[in-house]
Amino acid sequence: MQSTLSCRLQDGAGSLHVGIIMDGNGRWAERRGLPRLRGHEAGVEAVRRVVEAAPHQGIATLTLYAFSSDNWRRPRIEVMALMALLRSYLTKEIDSLVRNDVRLTVIGRRDRLPDGIADAIGRAEAASAGGRSLHVRIAIDYSARDAILNAVARVESRNDLTREAFARLVTGERTLRDVDLIIRTSGEKRLSDFLLWESAYAELHFTDQMWPDFDAEDLAHALSSFRRRERRFGGLQPVTSELLSQPVPGL
Ligand code: FPP
Repeated sequence: MQSTLSCRLQDGAGSLHVGIIMDGNGRWAERRGLPRLRGHEAGVEAVRRVVEAAPHQGIATLTLYAFSSDNWRRPRIEVMALMALLRSYLTKEIDSLVRNDVRLTVIGRRDRLPDGIADAIGRAEAASAGGRSLHVRIAIDYSARDAILNAVARVESRNDLTREAFARLVTGERTLRDVDLIIRTSGEKRLSDFLLWESAYAELHFTDQMWPDFDAEDLAHALSSFRRRERRFGGLQPVTSELLSQPVPGL
């Protein structure tokens, strides 16, 4: 089997895939004596800041964990408020995203979402399909383990199955770079069923900041710490852009 590094690393600047677990909205609000919903609203502001900053910081793909399949366990009132916020983002923000050449897609199940959200997702995806400066992927009713299970169910032939072919089934994208960096806010240090296949060699960045406080400077700080790390992908040599697209020795 011959494999290349090209799906892991492409050409340096402007090509990174960053995933963010946006945690801490509730605590941010509670510390201010506010209802949790106000924390989620402030979280949307942080999403706007980060989406605006990302293309200027070398990010090509940004995957945001907005609602996990386990979040249905929250009180109904909070779930409904989160769904309303997501619907509002998808409908009100789309013109600005299109103007800024951003492509928006949503990963996760759509069949359990409240009425109107799946349609809003479809409209936002269609309107922004030509966006080239940044690909924003919002994970809603998302579980990485379910994404892997669903991919297994869609495998047509096990004989010629490759990592690349399976990745296409997991991600639903023809070419999606593996995640380079996962950021989690609020001091928690776990992956919570987020991008488990895509993050095989992801670097992890944990910060104590609550998500509503996160801004472009914090993103730059996370990226600068990421860029100082040596990525060896299991080998002994750091992988640099010169090695890209060359066969991985021994595979
Ligand atoms: C985790 O904080 C956050 C969420 C479950 C929701 C994230 C949603 C947003 C940031 C807003 C909508 C997103 C988009 C893309 C428009 P938490 O509530 O678990 O915080 P806690 O751990 O402090 O309780």
